[in-house]
Amino acid sequence: MNRRNFLAASLAGAAGLGFPMRASWATPAGPRETLRLTYFTDIHARTEWDVPEAMALAARKINETDGDLVICGGDCITDGFQSGREAVMPRWKAYQESLAKQLKVPARTAIGNHDLVGAIPEDGSQPEKDPRALFRKEMGVKMTYSSFPVGGYQVVMLDPFKITDDEFKYHGFIDETQMKWLKGELEKIKPETPIILVCHMPLLTSFFQATVGQGKAGPPNRVVTNNLEVLEAFAGHRLHLVLQGHLHVNEILRWRDTTFITGGAVSGKWWRGEYHGTREGFGVVTMRDAKINWEYRELGWEAKRPQGAGVREGERERERGLVDGGRGQGIAS
Ligand SMILES: [Fe+2]
Repeated sequence: MNRRNFLAASLAGAAGLGFPMRASWATPAGPRETLRLTYFTDIHARTEWDVPEAMALAARKINETDGDLVICGGDCITDGFQSGREAVMPRWKAYQESLAKQLKVPARTAIGNHDLVGAIPEDGSQPEKDPRALFRKEMGVKMTYSSFPVGGYQVVMLDPFKITDDEFKYHGFIDETQMKWLKGELEKIKPETPIILVCHMPLLTSFFQATVGQGKAGPPNRVVTNNLEVLEAFAGHRLHLVLQGHLHVNEILRWRDTTFITGGAVSGKWWRGEYHGTREGFGVVTMRDAKINWEYRELGWEAKRPQGAGVREGERERERGLVDGGRGQGIAS
């Protein structure tokens, strides 16, 4: 069994057992081998506008990448946050059947804001006691944040959502409990181990400067507000790569020795086509020691969602000017 097959088999086995995998392909004498990681995010599964067909196309294209590791950055379904459990079940089913279960290498998935269910329902249903419960059940995980080794790297996944009663409804924030957990995990990781951090909401982005202008920081429902506290926790470690989502644009930043990638969106502009120059797609990261290569692959999907129609209850944030400076059109990320 070659290195890639070994790693894929380990991942598949570990995912089936529901615990972090331990796979290693250390090369005792030679340089570190390449790790190929396929990263897709912001799928916003739903049943309308041929979205299941688009997700099946995405699964085929992801399988073609032959990645050692497949990571999903969250927002698997759309509008869970403001919907009741019954309303979201067809979306989870569509996601699982058209995309997740079609993958040759099962995806490890970070939670997105849309994956919370019944946090603040707008359809008259009761708020869920635990809006993360359905995500954990669908993904077969015990926690919405995790840390696991893969091929000489350590992957750390965060859950950056704090539900609030203000106009934003949630803030990007890593709370005290999770910070404590993170610091405990980092103590167990050797300083020389390269770390891949996955967080649905961006820890660092130039999106607001690029779309609204210099001097604009992201609103609290668009970025992680205590990002410096989180990033400072990695001091003394090799934070190699940060994979982010939520903004639906393809962006790569290099700050000090860390590469920050915002991975576009499988759904593009929430199934309406291109958004700020990013089309429906996903990315392939090739890592060799300190070098990182990022390639964004478009699905080639023709959007079926009417441009002007379907602005839903939960998509008013942007209309109210809370996000992205008004170039977007009534869309909650
Ligand atoms: Fe999101």
